[in-house]
Amino acid sequence: MARINENFQKLPGSYLFSEVGKRRRAFIDAHPDADVISLGIGDVTLPLTPSAIEALHRGTDEMSRPETFRGYGPEQGYAFLREAIAKADFGERGVRIDPDEIFIGDGAKSDTGNIGDIFDLDNKVAVCDPVYPVYVDSNAMAGRAGNYDPSTGRWDGLIYIPGTAENGFVPGIRDIPVGSTPDIIYLCFPNNPTGTVAGKEELKEWVDYAISNRAVILFDAAYEAYITDPLIPHSIYEIPGADECAIEFRSFSKNAGFTGLRCSYTVIPKRLKVGGTSLNSLWNRRHSTKFNGTPYIVQLAAASVYTPEGKAETRGLVEYYLENAKIIREGLKEAGFGVWGGVNSPYIWLKTPGGMSSWDFFDYMLNSLSIVGTPGSGFGPSGEGYFRLTGFGSRENTLRAVERIKKL
Ligand code: MLT
Repeated sequence: MARINENFQKLPGSYLFSEVGKRRRAFIDAHPDADVISLGIGDVTLPLTPSAIEALHRGTDEMSRPETFRGYGPEQGYAFLREAIAKADFGERGVRIDPDEIFIGDGAKSDTGNIGDIFDLDNKVAVCDPVYPVYVDSNAMAGRAGNYDPSTGRWDGLIYIPGTAENGFVPGIRDIPVGSTPDIIYLCFPNNPTGTVAGKEELKEWVDYAISNRAVILFDAAYEAYITDPLIPHSIYEIPGADECAIEFRSFSKNAGFTGLRCSYTVIPKRLKVGGTSLNSLWNRRHSTKFNGTPYIVQLAAASVYTPEGKAETRGLVEYYLENAKIIREGLKEAGFGVWGGVNSPYIWLKTPGGMSSWDFFDYMLNSLSIVGTPGSGFGPSGEGYFRLTGFGSRENTLRAVERIKKL
């Protein structure tokens, strides 16, 4: 008799952004004339760059001719892309990462969700709270999170490291609950959802902690392109020792607009070993068994990001969204909100007014202003009473949303 994975039965409700989308559609069905502005899910709105489009056309033409057609590619990704990444994203920052330490994937969501495959179920997992829900839900599905308690919004098998207004939404090792020692630590900087960043000192503390506790850091750097402050590290590997204790995830979604195209990469240094076993080898085995590679033409488009024209065009996209984030941040401040993020990040994190709960504020924003955001409590219990807006909308919608909020 077949049996299901009972861990799925323990998951509360639906995935956060599915729930937000469901409520948005219900509102539009009930108010077909409403002029709804979506600043909820962090989905980009600008089209792909000319360089990426040219690469996609070129790749399509190659696929149309027998002499240049390509079938299965290397599961780990084509050398042209892995070499370009190693050079531009790491070499040029003084960090040595070899192309065979880079695995091309189809999105940081899949990569961060799948990485758990190579870790034992007995590992104690720590997440910062609030947190990108994929880290929590994928561990719950695997059976590593224990049971969900709706009264606290917590999984009893996970360690929650609170991000609060007191620590500036940058949780550090001092915030790890007393008596808990994580084996695996998810970090995300620039942070989703709070938009905050960690400096060298803060990341060094995490790396030192991981090395002395033989823990592994899973570092999500999907938003690194938004860092404008020269003192903020773009990669965990800018911290000495990180190549012995950290895996890093990057994405082409938020810098180059690949949310619909799908391309990402995971870095697993060969020096990173757990109990003497190389995680690079384990992930290579996992990746080549369960994944047949990101499409060739998509990898060509990703490689275009590293050409001189592609770099400038990609920068243009990031600057556009950063300007949106600034407009939202400044507008909210003017309107009297407590605000975090929106400087080295496309996300703006705000305190709900009058002690409203996150979902009450979501309903209020939708029903009164026709603006969709993301309730902070959807990212974890410490997100209750907060709300996230994104700079990924169009400029016009961003300006109109801020005007509506100011009139609240
Ligand atoms: C978000 O809104 O947090 C992100 O778009 C989700 C994602 O990248 O999967």
